[in-house]
Amino acid sequence: MGRLKDGLILLAGGREVIRNYDVSYVFRQGSDFLWLTGVEEPGCALLLDPKRRTSALYMPRIDDHHRVWEGHVPSPAEARRLYGVERVAFTDELPKALKKARSGHRRAYANEAALKSWGSSLKGLKPAPAVLTDALEELRAVKDAGEVALMRRANEVSGAAHVAVMRGARAGMREYQVQALFDSACLAAGLKHLAYPSIVAAGDNGAVLHYRKNNAVLKAGQLLLIDAGAENGGYAADITRTFPVSARFTRRQADAYDVVLATQKALINAAKPGVNSADWHVLSMRLIAEGLRDLGLLRGSTDALVETGAVRLFYPHSIGHLLGLDVHDGLGGSKRKLPNPTKVPVRFVARLEAGMAVTVEPGVYFISALLESKAQYDKHKDLVDFARARSWLGLGGIRIEDDIIVRAKGLPLNLTSVPKERRDIEALRRSAGHG
Ligand code: GLY
Ligand code: MN
Ligand code: MN
Repeated sequence: MGRLKDGLILLAGGREVIRNYDVSYVFRQGSDFLWLTGVEEPGCALLLDPKRRTSALYMPRIDDHHRVWEGHVPSPAEARRLYGVERVAFTDELPKALKKARSGHRRAYANEAALKSWGSSLKGLKPAPAVLTDALEELRAVKDAGEVALMRRANEVSGAAHVAVMRGARAGMREYQVQALFDSACLAAGLKHLAYPSIVAAGDNGAVLHYRKNNAVLKAGQLLLIDAGAENGGYAADITRTFPVSARFTRRQADAYDVVLATQKALINAAKPGVNSADWHVLSMRLIAEGLRDLGLLRGSTDALVETGAVRLFYPHSIGHLLGLDVHDGLGGSKRKLPNPTKVPVRFVARLEAGMAVTVEPGVYFISALLESKAQYDKHKDLVDFARARSWLGLGGIRIEDDIIVRAKGLPLNLTSVPKERRDIEALRRSAGHG
């Protein structure tokens, strides 16, 4: 309300979506609505009046038939206590309420879903859905202590699930059986929503960035990459680990792993308020370029490897992203967005601030679509040893991803504590009986 003083603010929450007949998709509240209200029920709306400084939650009118099938739904009086709004009413009363509330306002800061349902009651007010979304994304980017506590728990549970996977994954299993280990550990701990579909990728599948088939057999000698996280109170964990299906890394796996791990640690230490995230990403490219040059896969100056994009053949994504109620949280309006001072494409360009939650996820991949491409060969043959790089195909990908909170002073708070040192991973695999 402090940000959008000159308009009426109306948000529709998420609605149930029918999958077939009387079966709905699993409902998950829209993140903006969840951030503002904490309401996990579908079909609600929130009306904020900055002039009069009032808040009202509108809920579907529930009949006895619904109660028979769905059980208890909070009454308006209960909802007022639960969600801390001044007024609770039914959504069928909203058009009348809008008629009254709109007087004295020039604009309607309504989200798209609200405009669809109640746009006719807002006619004449200038609708500005993008301004509302931007303001909410901006507010959501910096986390308060309560949010950090929720994220910490999401990470603890997801981290324990990663450890369960590191212990339980074995040659002969299918990737989906590993996924089942992860998912069931999260559910058993009370976190019933995953933040995104788990990526479980053995061997060459690890080179597919958004691999989702999860149906291949794990083989001795392969690496297993798992990118998975649950959400707690809506707040996501986003964690990746890569470990050998046998107890030990091979020489090549170890060499590539060490490049990624050293890069990841340096990047965590470099995450400070004031750092431009584009420069941070470039630092990750430089470190990976230097590591791969030491392995004989790249040659030439670090600057050239970054500026020509040669390093992107092995590292084709960004260092990380904002994290929160969405696994890829947005940056919002113009206040934080910066022009990109670098020549490389990067996911978000902003100054890091204390309280921002960010992922740190460098990776190295051996992707045949890139390493066997004639166009890439012609473009990068001076800087990339293609013959050598192709001999690494099949290794797949290595990504190590932790979730951090940038702090005003000192190192960031690392929410993720899953083993990532090679010796710790190997010790854990050995202790779980893998040979
Ligand atoms: N799990 C998606 C990502 O790491 O961004
Ligand atoms: Mn991520
Ligand atoms: Mn991830």
